[in-house]
Amino acid sequence: MNQLDLNGRNAVVTGGASGLGFAIAERLVASGAKVVIWDLNGEAAHAAGRKLGGSSIAADVSDVTSVASALQKTLAIVPAIDIFINNAGISGPNAKLWSTRSMIGSKSSRSTSKGRSIAAGRSCR
Ligand SMILES: NC(=O)c1ccc[n+]([C@@H]2O[C@H](COP(=O)([O-])OP(=O)(O)OC[C@H]3O[C@@H](n4cnc5c(N)ncnc54)[C@H](O)[C@@H]3O)[C@@H](O)[C@H]2O)c1
Repeated sequence: MNQLDLNGRNAVVTGGASGLGFAIAERLVASGAKVVIWDLNGEAAHAAGRKLGGSSIAADVSDVTSVASALQKTLAIVPAIDIFINNAGISGPNAKLWSTRSMIGSKSSRSTSKGRSIAAGRSCR
């Protein structure tokens, strides 16, 4: 493993309760960062937070109010966000593009595209 030194850094990982997000959160913690997980699945987020010795917040990144609330709760836990991993999303179907129906407006596209823009936009302010 490379030797990233993230001691003293605070990170938010959206969709950090499972999959790639959880693996990223694990890696950040191993490098010394303090991690706050945001996930739609509050129960899984809390389990992941406990497992990593970090914190967790139930949040929907595709909802402006939920993101504003998560941000406020996060800043009550850490003084600032140094690293923001904008990972949350729902993978669409794995199929040839021409054989799938349009993804625009789907649950997957709302969580992934809209969610990424809301979460990042609000958090970077
Ligand atoms: N796994 C792949 O091969 C792959 C390929 C390309 C892109 N991606 C993208 O990478 C990201 C992670 O993929 P994964 O395979 O780890 O998926 P996953 O389903 O294992 O994990 C996604 C996590 O995001 C959370 N989530 C979903 N919508 C959310 C929302 N609106 N607000 C907050 N949390 C939300 C889920 O509860 C879940 O814990 C996704 O955005 C996915 O679209 C994955």
